[in-house]
Amino acid sequence: MRKPLIAGNWKMNTDLAEGISLIEEIKKCELSQNVEAAVIVPFTHLTKVKETLSNCNISVGAQNMYYEKKGAFTGEISPIMLKSIGVDYVIIGHSERRQIFHEDDELLNKKLHAAFDAGITPILCCGETLEEKQDNRAKDRVKEQITEDLKNIPKENVAQMVIAYEPIWAIGTGETASADDAETMCSFIRNLIGELYDNTTKQSIRIQYGGSVKPENIKEIMEKENIDGALVGGASLQGDSFVKLVNF
Ligand code: PGA
Repeated sequence: MRKPLIAGNWKMNTDLAEGISLIEEIKKCELSQNVEAAVIVPFTHLTKVKETLSNCNISVGAQNMYYEKKGAFTGEISPIMLKSIGVDYVIIGHSERRQIFHEDDELLNKKLHAAFDAGITPILCCGETLEEKQDNRAKDRVKEQITEDLKNIPKENVAQMVIAYEPIWAIGTGETASADDAETMCSFIRNLIGELYDNTTKQSIRIQYGGSVKPENIKEIMEKENIDGALVGGASLQGDSFVKLVNF
């Protein structure tokens, strides 16, 4: 049985005081035990957020990391650093990293290896642009990303990781893929994992949908067989809205 994961990706939002007050608000609410909740916060907030959530069942993640363990890489954060403060998850290859910061599949593959080496669970993002969707190339694009990004990653690791399907045209735009379209792609991804690995891996990997998920559409999305959760940006920045998402 795959436990659904609802993860709030705060992106570059909130200063520390605002972030902690959001965490305090979430902490006060009752969250479903059948769902894993995670907050993916800015680097500057991680230590304090971990501390604030110390007795809670809420996972904590980082939004990015570099693949080297240490060294002369000014401005970067290593997997060892994240592990040393008890970070559970790290997002790898969010479309904003791919598009704005030009992160390519070769780099993302290195980051995935490094996350596993450090014992941090990666949430690998994939998804097509509007143009690729209009050209009917969405599946090819997603297949290409996943195949490249997972190169030489052993199946035991893949079975534990999370893939987030996030069509780029649906991120922060208010436009969501229909639950049926999201399911079609998530099922395509699951079958691809079956082809690349085996049936056990295919059945155990968690696949999320992301892109304008909100309390109004989460239920419909979560009813789908191959969707094991959501990666949520905008709607995770308000306590009540995040709690509604977790308690869908
Ligand atoms: P959104 O962002 O929910 O604001 O569309 C999702 C994401 O980028 O992970």
